[in-house]
Amino acid sequence: MAKKINIGLFGFGCVGQGLYHVLNNSKGFKANIVKIAVKNREKQRPLESSVFTFDKQEILDNPEIDLIVELIDDADEAFKIVSYALSKGKHVVTANKKMVASHLQELYNLQHEHNVSLLYEASSCGSIPIIRTLEEYFDNEQIEKLSGIFNGTTNYILTKTIAEKLSYEEALKQAQEKGFAESDPTNDVEGFDAKFKAIILALHAFGVIAKPEDVLNIGITTLSPHDINYASEKGYKIKLVPTVKRLTQNEISIFVLPKFVPVSNHLYSVDNEFNGVIVDGEFSGEQFLKGRGAGGNPTGAAVLSDISALSYGYKYEYKKQKQSPDIKFSNNALLKVYLRYNKEEDLKKFEFQNISEQYTGGEYHYVIGTIDLNDIIKNKAYLIKNKLFIGVVGEDISAVSKPKESVAKKLILN
Ligand SMILES: NC(=O)c1ccc[n+]([C@@H]2O[C@H](COP(=O)([O-])OP(=O)(O)OC[C@H]3O[C@@H](n4cnc5c(N)ncnc54)[C@H](OP(=O)(O)O)[C@@H]3O)[C@@H](O)[C@H]2O)c1
Repeated sequence: MAKKINIGLFGFGCVGQGLYHVLNNSKGFKANIVKIAVKNREKQRPLESSVFTFDKQEILDNPEIDLIVELIDDADEAFKIVSYALSKGKHVVTANKKMVASHLQELYNLQHEHNVSLLYEASSCGSIPIIRTLEEYFDNEQIEKLSGIFNGTTNYILTKTIAEKLSYEEALKQAQEKGFAESDPTNDVEGFDAKFKAIILALHAFGVIAKPEDVLNIGITTLSPHDINYASEKGYKIKLVPTVKRLTQNEISIFVLPKFVPVSNHLYSVDNEFNGVIVDGEFSGEQFLKGRGAGGNPTGAAVLSDISALSYGYKYEYKKQKQSPDIKFSNNALLKVYLRYNKEEDLKKFEFQNISEQYTGGEYHYVIGTIDLNDIIKNKAYLIKNKLFIGVVGEDISAVSKPKESVAKKLILN
């Protein structure tokens, strides 16, 4: 690749402009942005109009362009751009977590078929260098668990509910006024954004490819003052925590649920719009990374780091997938949860394996007990419709043990 890279950029919003700023102010690295594709012809632009185009082919088919940087907010269109570029032998950098998480297998295949590189460090936890850490540092160490705070919007809202005793609705409004939450916050507050990131990281940490529709995400929309009070009284903070956990040697579970986080957990100190990732390795134990998960400059810095890595021929090797070809995604996990419910009938919907604590009084009822992840998945729609709140308590996540019957049959056959 030429020393001064020629970039074709898609998108000039928050991250595109952040990248432009970071590139122009980088001390050591030089690259040209040759052309920028945008969508809205009416919008005022801070750069001269000749650098912009509304025709994607003008960038994609330009032989002078070495590298495509995709920073648009439309995942379907982004996949068309990225897959076309890769199939034409161009390296690509993207920040689009929805696009990457929804097409992991196809993107993996395209890179191998066309011997090109796709890097997406900025897609997961903004400026935290987690993907390359997993790829390079943990390449030969088995990861047992990966969890964290992957979404700054929900973390900002949750921080305000505990620190300033704001209701969920008040905290969301404040986050929108400050520009931390979009006018339609669904992707963030229902846990989709965190789920896409968890799916991407699960591939690099464990070698597993999971489909977004198979992975549970329950966000914070049903959080009530009762839950906030419960957390405060017990000394917890409530965080939205995506978790990727090895259940058995070949089974990995992934889910996004609120969690009651004690002071002893690294995530307790990750507040406001910050993100954090805990990587639990077989030999190294817990490692904790904290940083800015969003914003133009931090995300632009992660994109710059990928562009720079491409300049010396860097590729993800997906080593964990090669090391563990039999690894599978599974929802057969048991976890300990707090469930706030409204009436006895709600509780009957769930099959708790054991209940360690129960409270009923006035309008506030909750149980704490162990439950099968599949049972939460089955009741997700009911839970949200009836405004019940569920959150993980403690660190215990184990594989659902095989039914006794099958063990008995095996013994007879033997
Ligand atoms: N914002 C963050 O902090 C952050 C952090 C990590 C990852 N990301 C990811 O980065 C990507 C960009 O996010 P953003 O916040 O920068 O979005 P944004 O501010 O909404 O900007 C989106 C840009 O994409 C352009 N665009 C949309 N559709 C297009 C199309 N079909 N062809 C060409 N250009 C098109 C828009 O054009 P116009 O200017 O004409 O409207 C705009 O310039 C998303 O995938 C997001 O998930 C964002």
